[in-house]
Amino acid sequence: FAFTPANRAWAEAQITKYPEGRQASAVIPLLFRAQEQEGWLSKPAIEYVADMLDMPYIRVLEVASFYFMFQLQPTGSVAHIQVCGTTSCMIMGSENLIEVCKHKIAHHPHELSADGKFSWEEVECLGACANAPMAQIGKDYYEDLTEAGLARLIDDLAAGKVLKPGSEAGRFGAEPASGLT
Ligand code: FES
Repeated sequence: FAFTPANRAWAEAQITKYPEGRQASAVIPLLFRAQEQEGWLSKPAIEYVADMLDMPYIRVLEVASFYFMFQLQPTGSVAHIQVCGTTSCMIMGSENLIEVCKHKIAHHPHELSADGKFSWEEVECLGACANAPMAQIGKDYYEDLTEAGLARLIDDLAAGKVLKPGSEAGRFGAEPASGLT
């Protein structure tokens, strides 16, 4: 793994934002950029970031494995779906959303779908409890999800449609129907 020249220049600029000797503070933005470039964080990518920041590999791995926004195995080429399974979402039916993922994507979390386009996992509270149950896809939240709503989101993504994040209550397609937001 190596950053593209543009990403390398960006990463070097990030490092200069921190005081001398504190370059390790840039670990999260650099890991994010590596993940954006590669789709997930491979061991060589983590080693590369560790090298840039003069950090032991294990310290960078500790960060990468602590936060579930970092993926340590390949994810679906179209989307990785993170279903919240914590209390509010669980009470509101997150188990049903997980069943949709098992049925439409793959039986086990982090397993790729047969076409390699999708993967999923259950995660801890994402802070959108008031609109439970919910899932995060990429950087966006999809809230007030139903089983049919999540199935439609997956179908829309597979069809190459652009999803509109936010509450899914009242949604009838990839874009809100007329008069609904
Ligand atoms: Fe699901 Fe908080 S419990 S977002």
